Amino acid sequence: MAGCGPLGLCGEAGLAGSVPLQSTRADYHRLLGQTTDEATGELPALSVYAQSLAQDVMQRDGLRSPLTLLSHLAALREEANQPTPDPAMTAQHRLLRFAPTGLLAGCWLSGLVTVEHTSSELGQLLLSAYFALYGQGEWSKQRGVLYRSVLSACGVSVPDFASPHFVADPRFAESDFGIGRLLLQVGRLGAAHLPEVIGVHAAMTLWSPPQTVQEAAAQCLPQTSNDQPLDEGTSLHKAEPQLAQILSAYAQTNGAALARILTGALWVLDAQRQWLSSLIVQPEPSIEQQMQDLVLRKLAHGYGFHRHVKLGNRSIDAYFDPRKPQVTDFLSALAESAWIVKGQPEQSPLLTHTTQFGGPMFGVFDDAELSVIARWIGSLTDKQATSPLDVAQTAPRLDLAPAQSARNAASLAVDSSRPSPVPMSQKMPALPQLYHRWLCLHSQPESVALARAYLTARLSEVERAGQVPHLVQKGLWPWSIKRLQHWVNARLQEQVIAAEPPDTTLPEQYLNRDEVIWLLLQLAPAALIDGAWLQGTLRPAVQTSRAASLLLRIYRDELGSGLCHQHHGNLMRKVLAEQGITLPTADSAAFVTLPQLLPASFSTPVLWLAYALHSRDFFPELLGLNLAIEMAGVGTMYSRASALLRSHQIDPYFFVLHNTIDNGATGHTAWSVEAIALYLDDVATHADAAQAAQCWQRVWRGFATYSESSAPLLRAIALRIGPKLGYRWLRARLIRSQAAEAS
Ligand SMILES: [Fe+2]
Ligand SMILES: [Fe+2]
Repeated sequence: MAGCGPLGLCGEAGLAGSVPLQSTRADYHRLLGQTTDEATGELPALSVYAQSLAQDVMQRDGLRSPLTLLSHLAALREEANQPTPDPAMTAQHRLLRFAPTGLLAGCWLSGLVTVEHTSSELGQLLLSAYFALYGQGEWSKQRGVLYRSVLSACGVSVPDFASPHFVADPRFAESDFGIGRLLLQVGRLGAAHLPEVIGVHAAMTLWSPPQTVQEAAAQCLPQTSNDQPLDEGTSLHKAEPQLAQILSAYAQTNGAALARILTGALWVLDAQRQWLSSLIVQPEPSIEQQMQDLVLRKLAHGYGFHRHVKLGNRSIDAYFDPRKPQVTDFLSALAESAWIVKGQPEQSPLLTHTTQFGGPMFGVFDDAELSVIARWIGSLTDKQATSPLDVAQTAPRLDLAPAQSARNAASLAVDSSRPSPVPMSQKMPALPQLYHRWLCLHSQPESVALARAYLTARLSEVERAGQVPHLVQKGLWPWSIKRLQHWVNARLQEQVIAAEPPDTTLPEQYLNRDEVIWLLLQLAPAALIDGAWLQGTLRPAVQTSRAASLLLRIYRDELGSGLCHQHHGNLMRKVLAEQGITLPTADSAAFVTLPQLLPASFSTPVLWLAYALHSRDFFPELLGLNLAIEMAGVGTMYSRASALLRSHQIDPYFFVLHNTIDNGATGHTAWSVEAIALYLDDVATHADAAQAAQCWQRVWRGFATYSESSAPLLRAIALRIGPKLGYRWLRARLIRSQAAEAS
């Protein structure tokens, strides 16, 4: 069953594609969520001011070389920090308002660190830059996580940034989501916008976080060293040498366009200046407004607890329904109820009984909230009950008025829990077409929904793998990390022991060289995109969990960890090229129509790509699939493949490498086990043991999808060369037995 996010937060999956571009908040939430094949939205046009800066840079010959451009961008830091925000704004408030940007650190590079884009030197540099922002795979060192810890240390609490509550939080202004929306948009751009993305990266390295945010952190945090508090947390200044390398590598590519890099950087400059100019202290909102904001913050948590509590003519839950919250009606009815004595908070049962020790709502509100309730009650008179009209007349404190905010929160909540519609209008295309379609996501509509349908169908085929009797039989029930570790160790042991050098009974010894190369070629659709099953963990809404950090670490290794020749796809491409086979790029139509490739050779990579498009909703299954893939790299199969290639003088390094890097002690298999353990630990903490058990079952279904996906290729290969091998094997047996008889 889908629906749980990386932390098992069911019902808060990414925003469905149907939400219109109504507001910056909604855009932010939509772009943050699950992958979609929707258009990214219009890219910004430069302001007149930014255009004048661009002209100035060009007149000063700033586009002469990448390093000249870099020095000009560095000199624009002052402009990027203007205007100075209202000095009356507290440090905590400035840190809070920057949260939609600060929590996102790094996402702008997501679209360029995919498996295909990292096969070049420049791609590897961007991969290294990306991982520097993500703490080199250490969850606690991710810049977004560090920004959250700065917020906490300063006493500022915000919801999970991927939840609808984050964007509906009334403490944020609409303008607070502007920089984040831009960064998320940029994170969805591919190679066609390479220079602009590099420009955005340069701007974020040189100008972010803004000076005022750095000062706010310095003001709030205890000074324990000479370091600026945000230096280790959010400042990207230490990435400047890496940026220079990126710009130089880009300048060596064909058709380098330094002016477009400048444009990308100025997008950020515009967005940052706009945000800074919005940092104005607003007059305190009316008490009616504060009360509405309070109810709005609480209703999602209160919904479900008040089914049988009547207020006016309906239950309280009817007012709190997140799909259609009725805040103003609720407050009008509350003002007229027996819980309230208008104008007299000290006489009102809501405050004297309900929210006091022994009352049914004790502990629900903190002191500040109780004070808001008291002031609201104090403001009520017989003639002055809150009404929709009153609400309309109160001056909105935020760009998004509460009523609109409520509607927005509701629409986000509804849409985010709704699975993408499965396109019933079309039949499932053939495997090579699916492969091409999911690698070129924007080429056809409904691709993401199709991937969900595909994944759901594959998981239903392996339903049994997650059933309790099956897990009991394997010694994997009830769930426990110890059991997992024990089971994995035992399987690896079997695989390694069985990986003795092939003896004369193994069928592959009867393969000739051409057949071996043909077999190797059948692995290319998967090998060229090795790591692609983890591509979805680049999505900001997926990568914030501790488990996802480990998956990202594996992903980086699959892509070469910053070294082009170690990119697993490049390794396979090189081995085949040495045998005279030069393959087109994996995402080209020419590749999927190569006549030498069996359609079934796309079965496993198609499964990977489907997972990559739905990593948030199918995160437990992805963890299972990942474990199966990494375990498969250790022992028997890869050792036999290495021996076979060696016997035909073909470079076996692709297989040798996996036998080492995927090891169960400190390698990918170990990280895969740890990721499952961390994930279940988080689910058990944030939800409960029952949900962790359900997720455990889902992990094993995901695990089973891997071997199931290999079956079509094994069958197709057996059909193609099985009879020939059988004949050769029989002939060899006959010759051997004749020789034995003769002797
Ligand atoms: Fe690999
Ligand atoms: Fe691996």
